[in-house]
Amino acid sequence: MADWDLLLTDARIATMRQGAPDYGTLEAGAIAIAGGMIDWVGAAEDLPAGRAADTRSLDGRWVTPALIDCHTHLVFGGERAGEYERRLQGVSYEDIAAEGGGILSTVRATRVASEEQLYAAALPRLRALAREGVATVEIKSGYGLDLDNELKMLRVARRLGETSGLSVRTTLLAAHTVPPEFAGGADAYIDFIIDEILPAAANEDLADAVDAYCESIAFDADQVERLFKRARDLGLRVKLHADQLSDSGGAELAARFGALSADHLEYTSQDGVTALAGSGTAAVLLPGAYLTLNEEQKPPVGELRSGGVPIALATDCNPGTSPLASIHFAMGLGSRLFGLTPEECLAGVTREAARALGLGHDRGTLESGKRADLAAWDFDHPRQLAYWLGEQPLSELLVAGRPVDRAS
Ligand code: NIG
Ligand code: FE
Repeated sequence: MADWDLLLTDARIATMRQGAPDYGTLEAGAIAIAGGMIDWVGAAEDLPAGRAADTRSLDGRWVTPALIDCHTHLVFGGERAGEYERRLQGVSYEDIAAEGGGILSTVRATRVASEEQLYAAALPRLRALAREGVATVEIKSGYGLDLDNELKMLRVARRLGETSGLSVRTTLLAAHTVPPEFAGGADAYIDFIIDEILPAAANEDLADAVDAYCESIAFDADQVERLFKRARDLGLRVKLHADQLSDSGGAELAARFGALSADHLEYTSQDGVTALAGSGTAAVLLPGAYLTLNEEQKPPVGELRSGGVPIALATDCNPGTSPLASIHFAMGLGSRLFGLTPEECLAGVTREAARALGLGHDRGTLESGKRADLAAWDFDHPRQLAYWLGEQPLSELLVAGRPVDRAS
């Protein structure tokens, strides 16, 4: 009996271990994998005695934790390029939403699409992420906004996880906006989510977490709080689209509920940052939406940094505010637009993204006891990931120790 299924040698390893300097780099490293988990990682000269069923040299290539996209809406019907053109002519996102466009136009297109159609439309977006070294993707509902269509979206997301070889985490975002059936009745719609959609999603085990859009054009803090209490009763962790277009106290609310993450945060105040600091809630920054909405107010990166708030970075892939299915491009934008260092960008799509999904114990760094999700690269330093825009330097992607066929 072999001790390990696979032994990778001659690797330069960016472990991304918490607190380790310089990407947690180990030169001339080796990684021993057993049962889909990392059994041992370190400098090859320290490798303990053991027999591997398969040994492979990485010929000096860099290895990082596989990447994680912790905030996407990549299952949706239709697209909104026409709306984008109107926005370029000066019509605002809020005005388009008030006319019944925006999120609601994607709701119409998603409701008429079959599960098969939604799956076929989403798969290329998921593959695009896999080609860049992404092994774990969070996918939200939020374009169904009724019982059947919210569950339909979550089922499609689950199926993408079952067939793609990637790990998909699902999030119920029924509280994305008020659907036409409840126009003018946000409270009644929240009641409907609490009474019908949330218990059904929990019952069918379709949602790993619950999210809401706390914003002037969506739900207020009291409504989100009612929803979060119900989620907590059902044993589901929460996340929040917070302070994207205005300071609505979203960061404070997320922190108060021990949310996995508070996302966007452009308008978060110092009080909001103080609440996040020490709460364990990760900040998820979404530069694709910031760029597409032509925002001027940046998230308070310096304050988040000095408060020690974990900072994750994601694509927010969605048809309205972030038509972006590239985690590398999100990293490039995170450094250019928000001033994150290349190391913070890589931590943001590995260690901190894992935290934002409640998976920090299981992935996001290369350490023994974690899942063997790793990416090998054809670059000469991991800082290149945030530097290049549109390069594809991935050499190999392993999920739970097994190579992912990135073409399927
Ligand atoms: O993350 N902020 C709300 N939700 C999405 C936008 C969804 C849409 O416009 O379709 C976001 O930016
Ligand atoms: Fe989003």
